[in-house]
Amino acid sequence: MAGNSAASFHPPRRALMGPGPSDVSPRVLGALARPTIGHLDPAFIGLMDEVKALLQFAFQTRNELTLPVSAPGSAGMETCFVNLIEPGNKVIVCQNGVFGGRMKENVVRCGATPVMVIEAWGEPVNLAKVKQAIGAYPDAIALAFVHAETSTGVASDAAALCKLAHNADMLSIVDTVTSVGGIEVAVDAWGADAVYSGTQKCLSCVPGLSPVTFSAKAVERIRDRKTPVQSWFLDLNLVMGYWGGATRRAYHHTAPVNAVYALHESLLMLKEEGLEASWARHRRNHEALKAGLEAMGLSLPVAKTARLPQLNLVAIPAGIDEARVRRELLDQHGLEIGAGLGELAGKVWRIGLMGYGSNETNVRLCLSALESAMLRQGARMEAGAALAEVDRVYGGAR
Ligand SMILES: Cc1ncc(COP(=O)(O)O)c(C=O)c1O
Repeated sequence: MAGNSAASFHPPRRALMGPGPSDVSPRVLGALARPTIGHLDPAFIGLMDEVKALLQFAFQTRNELTLPVSAPGSAGMETCFVNLIEPGNKVIVCQNGVFGGRMKENVVRCGATPVMVIEAWGEPVNLAKVKQAIGAYPDAIALAFVHAETSTGVASDAAALCKLAHNADMLSIVDTVTSVGGIEVAVDAWGADAVYSGTQKCLSCVPGLSPVTFSAKAVERIRDRKTPVQSWFLDLNLVMGYWGGATRRAYHHTAPVNAVYALHESLLMLKEEGLEASWARHRRNHEALKAGLEAMGLSLPVAKTARLPQLNLVAIPAGIDEARVRRELLDQHGLEIGAGLGELAGKVWRIGLMGYGSNETNVRLCLSALESAMLRQGARMEAGAALAEVDRVYGGAR
């Protein structure tokens, strides 16, 4: 129980360079702090229409059923599975890290059977293995995969995977939580059917919403279900009456009004910058970080062709107490980087350069803080070499 000492909470200042949440811009925080209005107020309904249009832009889709689920990325994942999958179905699930494992859990909890296509952590989903699974299980109704695996910093070939699903008349279910805004996501060009994302990665909005989008084929499947969706809250047949774009909106739940203001502002920032420009900025800052890390003798274990610019996996050198380094970064530099997850715990750091946080200042802060923390542990490296490399990369880009 809070005693007499309870007081307003003022969080410490941090640079968020972990796997998310990422730094939220003052502009988005300003939007969040605007006065709350009723969620059926005509002004809010106008805002919902704009959010939908901006999400269609971010996902590069014309899908009518595009909306932010009022809960974090995990709820977007669950929305896709509970609406599309029915008991007795078979679903091919690709797993090359933590989040493919959660997809499997969702399939099982829908009363369906997952057919797993497993790849080593740090590798992209293997197209040949997926092809083989599709051939072996032609009765599967969907293919599910993670576009940007946050646990490993790996991008898989979403266009090719969606095409494989499409050619086999299977639905594709795609996790783009870490990809939207950071690398290309092209829902219509891919022919993806059910796609979910998150607000707290490259959109740099506050955590707690999950944009989703569904193709006409997916909507048809939801409308033709033989069994009711087991989740009342996530049942899109009901949510559609609220977010569906009809002139009259029926109450379903109370939307997180201020979080929607924030999402609107962050999407507006993405639109103003432009998708290609945002992807290029993520790429440029990744190149600078990578050059600095390599100058410090650190290596990025993910193959160059599969590396996510917004989430950098860094191998921890022998003799370094990785938890102590992260603690020092946090305490002395106000800088958060991520630890390894699952199989990679203790072996890697995960350094995020996502959304608003993908900038030159963060690249320099991270490299100089890492350098001083590692030198303190006796690492052998040339002081200043990392920042000299960064100067070179940005100098060339100016
Ligand atoms: C790839 C991926 N999928 C799903 C999620 C779940 O999102 P949330 O933590 O917002 O529920 C995350 C979160 O890190 C993620 O990285």
